[in-house]
Amino acid sequence: MSIPVVIDTDPGVDDALALALALASPELSVRAVTTVAGNVDLTTGTANAGYLLRILAPSTAIRLAQGCAKPLARELVTAEEVHGSDGLAGITGHERWRRSRAETRDIPADAVDAIVEEVEASPEPVTVIALGPLTNVAAAVRRDPAAMRRAGAIVVMGGSLHARGNVTPHAEFNFYVDPEAADVVLASGVPVVVTPLDVTHQLAVSDETVESRLASLADSRGAFLGELIRRARAEQFTGRGGKLLLHDPAAVGTLLWPELFTMESHPLTVDGGDGDLRGAMRSAAVDEGSRMAAQVAVDVAADAVVSRIVERLVAGGGPG
Ligand code: RIB
Ligand code: CA
Repeated sequence: MSIPVVIDTDPGVDDALALALALASPELSVRAVTTVAGNVDLTTGTANAGYLLRILAPSTAIRLAQGCAKPLARELVTAEEVHGSDGLAGITGHERWRRSRAETRDIPADAVDAIVEEVEASPEPVTVIALGPLTNVAAAVRRDPAAMRRAGAIVVMGGSLHARGNVTPHAEFNFYVDPEAADVVLASGVPVVVTPLDVTHQLAVSDETVESRLASLADSRGAFLGELIRRARAEQFTGRGGKLLLHDPAAVGTLLWPELFTMESHPLTVDGGDGDLRGAMRSAAVDEGSRMAAQVAVDVAADAVVSRIVERLVAGGGPG
C-alpha cells in the first residue's frame, strides 16, 4: 500500500529533484502539489511546478494549486542567488519561461484548502511533505486544526539542531523565511518529522557522474534532470566547487528509507522576531512548557541515501 502524500514546495532546484524522486517512488502516491513563496516568488515557483509536472509526470493528472505569496507575518526573502532568477538554475528558455509564467493565472489559488481537503478526504492518513517555508502548511493547520490532525505526519525539510545555519549562523532558509509558520506547525499536535541541515549537509552530488548517467537515458526527463544538476553544480550557483546539496530529496528519503536515518525525539520551538536568533530551531525541552515532540533526523547513512536517490532518479520509476 503506497503512502498518500501532498507535496508543498518552493521550486527550487532541490525541490525539483525531490519531486522527481517522489514521482519515481512506488512507495508514495502523490495526490497534490502545492506551491509556496520561498526560493523564488510564488508566480515563478508555481510556473516551475507546472513545468516540472509536465516533464516528470506527463501521464498522470496531479492536482496543482498555488498558495501563500508571502510569509504569515513578514516580508518574503528569496534565494535566487542559489537557485537562479528562474528558480531552476536558468534551465528554462526565456520564451518558454515567459509563456509558463502567463499560464500560472489558470492554476487554482487554493493551496491551503487543497492541503486540508486532501488530508480530510483520504481514507488512509495523508503525509504532507513540506519542502519550502511552512506558510501554506501553517495556514492549513490554523484553518482546520481538527482536519489536519488526521494527517499521518508532516515531513519537513528545515531547521538545524547543532549545524551552522545557511542564512545566518543560527537559521536554515525555510525556517528563517517564515519562523512563525514553522512554530505553528511544530506546535500543531500533528506528528512532525524534521530533516535539518545537520543531515542534509552530508548529502551532496559532487561530481559529473550523476548528470552524465541521467543525460545518457536519452529521454526528455533524464535530459532535463541531468542538465538541471549540471547547471546547479556550476560555480555561479554553488560557489562551493560544484557541490549540490540534496536538502529536499533527503526529506523524501526519510519516508522512503527511514532505516537509513538516526532520529531523536525533541519538542521544538522556532524563534520569531528580527534578532540574531530569527528562525533558530531549538529543543523546547530546555524551555518552559512543552509541546508534542518532533522526530528529528540527527544523522544519516549518507553514501547509502545519496546512491539510492540517484538510482531512483535514474530508474525514473520504471520497471524493476
Ligand atoms: O535550506 C534549504 C531549503 O531551503 C531547501 O528546501 C531549499 O529548496 C530551500 O527551500
Ligand atoms: Ca525547497
